[in-house]
Formats: sequence, C-alpha cells, structure tokens
Amino acid sequence: MVDQIHSYRILILDFGGQYAQLLARRIRELGVYCVLLPYDVSPEQLLDIEPHGVILSGGPESVQQLDSPKIPDIVWRMRCPVLGVCYGMQAMAQAFEGVVESKAQSEYGHTVIQVQPNTWLSACVGESTSVWMSHTDQVVRCPADFDMMASSAQCDVVAFSNVKKGYYGVQFHPEVTHTSEGFAILKYFVYDCCGCEAVWTPHKIVDQLVDEIRQAVGQDRVVLGLSGGVDSAVTAALLQRAIGDQMTAIFVDNGLLRAHEADEVESIFTDQMSMQLVRVDAQEQFLSALKGIEDPEMKRKIIGREFVNVFQAHAKQLKDVSWLAQGTIYPDVIESAGTASGKAHVIKSHHNVGGLPDSLSLKLLEPLRELFKDEVRKLGEVLGLPGTLLHRHPFPGPGLAVRVMGEVKSDYLKMVREADAIFIAVLKAHNWYHRVAQALVVFLPIKTVGVVGDQRAYGYVLALRAVETTDFMTATAVQLPEGLVQEVSTRIINEVSGVTRVVYDVSSKPPATIEWE
Ligand code: XMP
Repeated sequence: MVDQIHSYRILILDFGGQYAQLLARRIRELGVYCVLLPYDVSPEQLLDIEPHGVILSGGPESVQQLDSPKIPDIVWRMRCPVLGVCYGMQAMAQAFEGVVESKAQSEYGHTVIQVQPNTWLSACVGESTSVWMSHTDQVVRCPADFDMMASSAQCDVVAFSNVKKGYYGVQFHPEVTHTSEGFAILKYFVYDCCGCEAVWTPHKIVDQLVDEIRQAVGQDRVVLGLSGGVDSAVTAALLQRAIGDQMTAIFVDNGLLRAHEADEVESIFTDQMSMQLVRVDAQEQFLSALKGIEDPEMKRKIIGREFVNVFQAHAKQLKDVSWLAQGTIYPDVIESAGTASGKAHVIKSHHNVGGLPDSLSLKLLEPLRELFKDEVRKLGEVLGLPGTLLHRHPFPGPGLAVRVMGEVKSDYLKMVREADAIFIAVLKAHNWYHRVAQALVVFLPIKTVGVVGDQRAYGYVLALRAVETTDFMTATAVQLPEGLVQEVSTRIINEVSGVTRVVYDVSSKPPATIEWE
C-alpha cells in the first residue's frame, strides 16, 4: 500500500539538463513527491512509479542528431499528463512529427512572450509574461493536433499543447526563478492537470520516516557516523526520535575540522539532545597518516581509509549492532545513478562514510535518501535542531585537508582554521553569511614577502573564496563588498601568525571547482 506522502507522484525524466534537479526541487516545494530518473532507465522502472504526471527536462543535445535521447514509448502509454521543458518540448514535437530546427543564434536570457488567449498557458500567466530562455533549436511547426500557445520575437512556437491528451510543451525554463510565473506554471500542471495534492510536507515526512525506521529496526541497535554536517545531524535527530538509545553516534575528531567544531557538535548532541555519542579523538592518527602526502586524491583516499579504521574499531566495541545509518541524500543517489548511455550526468564520488568493509556486515539505513538538502533542513527544523547547525555552509567530508594545498601539517591547519573563523565571523557581522552559498579559506604552501611593523616578513598566502550556487555543480564567485574583503584580509594578517598575504578567488565553476584541493 502507498503511504500518504507518496500518494501523488510526478516522474521527471532527465535528459541531462543543468536544471533537472531544480525542476524536482520545485515540484517538492509544491508539496508533491517526485522522482528524477535518467531518460534511458528501463520501462519497468518507469512503470513502477505509476506517476500522476511526467515532466521531460531540458538537455544539451539536439533532437536533430540521429542518436539524440528519445522519450521512451512507455511515457505515452502511462495515460497521464506530460510537460516537456526545452529539450523535452523539442523531443515531444519530434515524437509527434512536428518540426524542430536549429537557429543560427542561440536565444539566452530574459524574453517576453505573447500568450494565446483561452489556452492552458494563459490560464496560468495571462496574455504576456517574462521567461528565461536557453536554447539553439526550436519547434518551427507544431505536431498535428497540437496548438501553439505562445510566441516571442525570436521564436514562433514558445509553447504548445494537446489539451485532449494532456500534453504540453514550453521552450523556456519554468523551474528557474528568472521566469516570473514559472512556479505558477508548474503549480498549474501539477495540481490542475495532474490532480496532485500537497501531502509531501516536512511534518508528515518526519512522521512517516519515524514509522519506517521503527519498523525496519525493531529492537536492533544502530550505529551512525556523525560528521556535524546537516545530513548526518538530521539523520541522527530522526533516529533519536524513532529509536532513542538504540542508536549510538560516532563522531570522529580527525583534526581536520573547523574551529570549535568538535566541542559544538558534542554539546548539541549530548547536552541538548541527550544522544548517545562516542567522540573519538583521532587527530594524531589522521595527521601521521597524511604525513608527506601531497597528491589530493591520495589525501582523500587516506582520510577515507582512516575514517573507516576508526569507525570500524569503535563500532565493533558496541555490542549487537546490526545497522549502519548514513546521511545519504537524494542528490547523492541521483549522481551515483548515472545513465545507461552515460550521457546525462557528471558523476562525482564524494567521501562520506562509504567504503566500509563487508566484514562489518551491517545493514544500511539511509532515511534521507529521497530528500533534497533544503528538505533535509526543513526536517531538521521539525526535529528541533538549532538553526546555526542547519543553515551552515556545506563542509566537505575530508575537511580542511582539501583546503590545505600540498602536504597537510598541523601549523598549516592552524592557519587555515583561524582564518576561516575570522572570514565567517566578518561575513556574519556584515549579514553576508546567508547571502553566499559557501565561503572558505585555502592555504597555499608558498611564501611571499611582506612588511610587518618595520620588519621584512616572509609568510604564507591564504585565498578567500565565496560562491553563489543553487546546486553546487556550477557556481560563480560572489562579489563581496570591497570593505568586507579588506577587513577580513587585515584581520587575518594581523591575527594569524605566519600569513603575510590574502588573495580573493574570482573563478567560476566550471572550469574551477569550489574547493581547491
Ligand atoms: P567542488 O570542489 O567539487 O565541491 O566544486 C562541490 C561541493 O561539494 C563539497 N565537497 C564535498 N562534500 N564530501 C562532501 O560531503 C566530499 O568529499 C566533498 N568534496 C567537496 C564542497 O565543499 C562543495 O560544497
């Protein structure tokens, strides 16, 4: 039997578009459960979902190429409304023998569209609205039985529909906030066309997950690797509510954490939440394992291995543990799924608890694997976790080791840790902390000349980085106010011993990444 929170389901087929996850998040914001799957998964997997509606995402390819991704036939046999977005609209046009052509120039950015009266689209947005375009191909002739719903100066068929069948297509991106009525369009599709209701809400999700955890775990004992990040913290709080003392959290202080982080995590989970927590001081172990290692991938591997060693040793000391809980979230699941053709996704392997040896023989409990980060935060609020923990910038699993270039040494860590605390404090003081998605400090193992007092100084360089992003797959550097950057630089050079120079990283991702490694 389907439980209440999953009683309405939207299927999003991912054609590799950069906004596919954003589409899914918007549907969840509407209080409706959705699944994001690569366009080429098996028909059985698609049928299993029994969706109330299907959304076809955008994508980088051209339907005019012979091997371009096609909409699986099974979609048309599901007998539910279908909305094609950008590439999804073009693929729908092609499937019903409309005509798609490439234009000499791409259309990118804000466009005002004119909407035909008495159409599906005019019901959502009226006669005219501003939308966000990003395309080179476009539909030039609607398929038979489809009506043109909107046009723009550069595009004759911006939207089309076959209302009888419940098939709709839009060339623009309703999922991005630049499309002024985008959310209204998705809302109309999901509620009015597909008949969904808003039952996917944080309180209901918490109740459902608590029930599921209780049923799965019974009287067993569970161990959890707590990092202090949002995902593992919310997993811990959820398990605490579901099974209380049957769960023990293991928190490894690996010496790669931010200033005061270990004490804060311990205080929140033991003092405030009365959780069973084992804090392991493994700073020496990690630092000696990292001695002499400069290669970033080697550093990651060593940290992963040491984490497993420490975790395994302590998990074994706990009696009768049969479950390992992890804070895996939906983007981790999506990113590790990939596609059969390998077309749609860039796969990134992150270090979390992963890689535990089979000899530990624990069953895996991943209660957050259907949730996006913003949903996880909302659950955290329902579960009473402090906002300071929930709304922190993300912090990578391998910690400050990916922010110290080259060999990780304790005096380098000390510099980057102290500077990070200053940068974050100044951002908060100027109300900029929550206006950037992530801010960090990087240590560069090169020395440059400076003047401190009247003395020549020869010290290290630190780089500041603050980025704006919604999905962390692409990001742009934030233009912080000059005075703020100046203040951070002055404070760091005055207060952090060994540093003579501070620089600001202005590169975007891609081609750069957020962390320097
Ligand atoms: P990059 O550097 O790839 O980072 O642009 C994207 C985002 O991922 C975070 N990050 C990690 N998070 N384990 C994590 O949990 C990791 O191994 C890891 N590596 C990078 C990074 O901080 C940024 O938010």
